[in-house]
Amino acid sequence: MRKQLEDIQKAALETIQSANISSDLEALRVRYLGKKGDLTAVLKQMGKLSEEERPIIGQLANAVREVLTEAIARQSERLEQAALEARLASEVIDVTIPGTPIQVGHRHPMSIVLEEAEDIFIGMGFQIAEGPEVELADYNFTKLNTPEGHPARDWQDTFYLSEDGSIVLRTQTSPVQIRVMENQPLPIRIISPGRVYRKDEVDATHSPMFHQIEGLVVDEGITMADLKGTLEILVQRLYGSGTKIRFRPHHFPFTEPSCEVDVQCFECQGSGCRVCKGEGWIELLGAGMVHPKVLEGCGIDTNVYSGFAFGIGVERMTMRRFSISDLRLIYENDIRFLSQF
Ligand code: PHE
Repeated sequence: MRKQLEDIQKAALETIQSANISSDLEALRVRYLGKKGDLTAVLKQMGKLSEEERPIIGQLANAVREVLTEAIARQSERLEQAALEARLASEVIDVTIPGTPIQVGHRHPMSIVLEEAEDIFIGMGFQIAEGPEVELADYNFTKLNTPEGHPARDWQDTFYLSEDGSIVLRTQTSPVQIRVMENQPLPIRIISPGRVYRKDEVDATHSPMFHQIEGLVVDEGITMADLKGTLEILVQRLYGSGTKIRFRPHHFPFTEPSCEVDVQCFECQGSGCRVCKGEGWIELLGAGMVHPKVLEGCGIDTNVYSGFAFGIGVERMTMRRFSISDLRLIYENDIRFLSQF
């Protein structure tokens, strides 16, 4: 029996050590140590042994059981370790492989110019004000010294939102002037960018929806010279120090005197072309000294205070800034166009 036990141990150790799947190992455990296993089978014959032999063989059998149990545990550990290593090796991440490129969006050229302009004005001490696009006709026209029946209401005639004509999509950012003067303490120094709407036909320089930046300064002793200096600083900073602008007398109901300011055409440098319609200059903004009637309508004492205002066309400012010759490009959202800026 001793020989039998020793043979079992020898054979079992060999097969256990060469098992390389954990299910095989389990089968071996059953085969050698299980109730119907080889070791049990030997032990069942213990009855045949003499009194002296029995404890010796018993001890030997227990020792074999221990050795095999130990061997199975060790092999099982080895298999687990090997499996783990195999998994780690197969799941290795190569951080040097280039990733899938993500398409990053792009700021619209008009947003770029708007932010540049905002920075320039903030640098001069202006604050940014906001007003509604759906506006009372009262604010869009009447309080801006443009009463009902005034011819300026005609050419700006617009998208009315109520039958009685009391609510409109604003035709200009100028109503923000009124809202600010009615609500903010003096002195005032604001700009107000936003959308405006007019029944304009689409062409290279017109669109029924476009953007303006309104500007308003009200303080003691403000003159046309302050207006000129402010606008000159704006265009020099935006377009470079050599940029030429010109002031032309004009008429707006809510400024007196009024002017329009043109910037030299970027396309032809002043000689006249399609972009400037042969003029050599491109109209950039309307401006003037705030009409005393408008100031007084907002409860401002015109004996003490005066002010200037301007309204810049943001599309035109952008076209000049980036030499864009057709306004329609700005709205088409063609990636090939947008990604150039
Ligand atoms: N609101 C005028 C326009 O849209 C521009 C302007 C603004 C003129 C402020 C004078 C003062 O044409």
